[in-house]
Amino acid sequence: MKRKEFIEKLGVGAAFVLTSTCLGGCTRDSAEPIKDLDFVIDLNQEEFSELNTFGSYIIQDQVVIARSTTGEYLAATLICSHDNLAQITYSGAESGWLCTAHSARFSEEGEGLNANGSKGLQVFNTELDGSLLRIFS
Ligand code: FES
Repeated sequence: MKRKEFIEKLGVGAAFVLTSTCLGGCTRDSAEPIKDLDFVIDLNQEEFSELNTFGSYIIQDQVVIARSTTGEYLAATLICSHDNLAQITYSGAESGWLCTAHSARFSEEGEGLNANGSKGLQVFNTELDGSLLRIFS
């Protein structure tokens, strides 16, 4: 079956569903810097256990919280400065923060590492007290 035939078989209804799904997944969030951020997570809780693994990350309250490949706790906004999409991930000490939308790259300190990352990325402070990790601006 050729592509045109396949699309015709889908019909208008299916095309609408595919289009509306994409539109819903492609919405842009605010690029405004997050002010007065301050919250604590307990690393002993199951939902944060991923952070026991070096190089992993979780998303909490529009913040990407990472355990760096060297064991430090890092945090950055989920919203990319390139096109305001909520697609920031952590990809290791050398690659830093990576946006999966258009491959903007940022250092762990939030400095842009390529053209799409040139506006930099808002990062936050972290402070560990026992199993409690505070993330704050
Ligand atoms: S929105 Fe992140 S690279 Fe474009």
